[in-house]
Amino acid sequence: QLPHPPGRRPVIGDLATIFRGDTRKPVQNALRTSGPLGPIYEIKVFRGKVVIVRDAELAAELCDESRFEKKLAPGVQALRETAGDGLFTAYTHEPNWRLAHDLLRPAFTREAMKGYHQTMVDAADELIALWDRSDRPVPVSPNLTKLTLETIGRTSFSKDFGSFSRDGQDPFVPAMARCLKRGQVRGAFAALPFGGALLRRGRQPYLDAKAYIDALIDDIIAERLASHDTSQEDLLGLMLHAAHEETGDHLDRLNIRRQIITFLVAGHETTSGALSFAMYYLATNPQVRAKAAQEADAILGPDPDSVPTFEQVAKFRYIRRVLDESLRLWPTAPGFARGPVKDTVLAGRYPMTTDDWCIVMSLAVHRDPKVWGDDPDTFDPDRFLPAAVRARPAHTYFPFGTGERSCIGRQFALHEAVLLLARACHRYDFAADPAYQLDIAERLTLMPDGFDLTMVRRTPRR
Ligand code: HEM
Repeated sequence: QLPHPPGRRPVIGDLATIFRGDTRKPVQNALRTSGPLGPIYEIKVFRGKVVIVRDAELAAELCDESRFEKKLAPGVQALRETAGDGLFTAYTHEPNWRLAHDLLRPAFTREAMKGYHQTMVDAADELIALWDRSDRPVPVSPNLTKLTLETIGRTSFSKDFGSFSRDGQDPFVPAMARCLKRGQVRGAFAALPFGGALLRRGRQPYLDAKAYIDALIDDIIAERLASHDTSQEDLLGLMLHAAHEETGDHLDRLNIRRQIITFLVAGHETTSGALSFAMYYLATNPQVRAKAAQEADAILGPDPDSVPTFEQVAKFRYIRRVLDESLRLWPTAPGFARGPVKDTVLAGRYPMTTDDWCIVMSLAVHRDPKVWGDDPDTFDPDRFLPAAVRARPAHTYFPFGTGERSCIGRQFALHEAVLLLARACHRYDFAADPAYQLDIAERLTLMPDGFDLTMVRRTPRR
């Protein structure tokens, strides 16, 4: 018997609670209102039930890989219609998860970022050129989403979406958005009576969008194979040619397509959200911005056009702390699902069978006063000074998830984000409209909404 929000109704359960306040923001509503329910609580809506953990000690226990593992929440299961057994949506027992994980891990080490560094620099240059040309405030999140889409498209399969050069969007972008929306709707409808019937409406446009994406990626794969070109060092090249060290197995073509879709989905809005939150905190904390600019000047020197080398990216320690702290307050993937490997009792109190699962709500755990002190909502990059990190218990900070199913793209996202933030702090003083109140949109991820910045060129100093 877990606590649940007050006012539960027969049949609809806690539906009214989820959508109390702004109906487009159920995650933020939960953060704001669920405190009185304690460390773990339950939400029921029609036939669906979700258990949510918001306490650091319980979360740390759920990160114990010997007892708990990733489970696919209904929202993630729903994405399987589009991404199948791609890394993010695969069950851990599916053979393609292990194969892809083992084959692709070397492509995501910190060292491997050397291979993507120039592509990241080129995409960042295009964004900087756009900002240089702007004579009015720039829309931060949409601009950064262009950047991250270009970076992941070019590094994954050498696809240039032309985000900075064309008016309007590459047709791939709305097609992908339609597929993701379908996943979200499917996840939500799974709990509804007659959900299946409701889902049949809107299926055809989804199928058309999916067919378009599949054909485009399959054509690129076929072209690459026909060219016998093994020199292209993008992820597609690796997936086509790498064999598993022990078994000699390769990824099949269907799975390669699914991995490309996965990288595009998992790797772009998460990173642009993280970058946008960091820009928000830099813009609204002048002392933090001054320190970040000082660090950028010290490393990059007085030339405003100088671009960080691969080795320099790791040296922006303060800027990295700004990013880490932004991801603490607003982990752009605000939770992840865990369940027991064998029947067990969580915290000696809550029995769980292997069919049970719960959401670790990182958004709330990252603000647990037991770990983060009595001002957990305050932005303070010094929480990530090495001594402070060492002093904290393990498994209390997990914007990238946990265990072997944690984010394979972590180094990729961090390299891309620090590179851009360093360039931005080096080149601009940026100011937000003082009237702007942080407004956060919830799609698959969290993202600042309606946030504009005026980018004023500055003169870097030694
Ligand atoms: C998994 C967050 C960037 C690819 C995850 C998970 C989280 C996460 C929380 C675990 C989900 C779960 O347990 O269900 C983030 C954040 C990012 C980011 C906050 C940016 C700041 C990226 C990038 C890529 C990527 C850039 C690709 C280049 C993946 C993949 C998985 C994953 C493939 C599934 C891994 C597996 O289960 O084997 N990410 N991610 N992510 N992420 Fe990321």
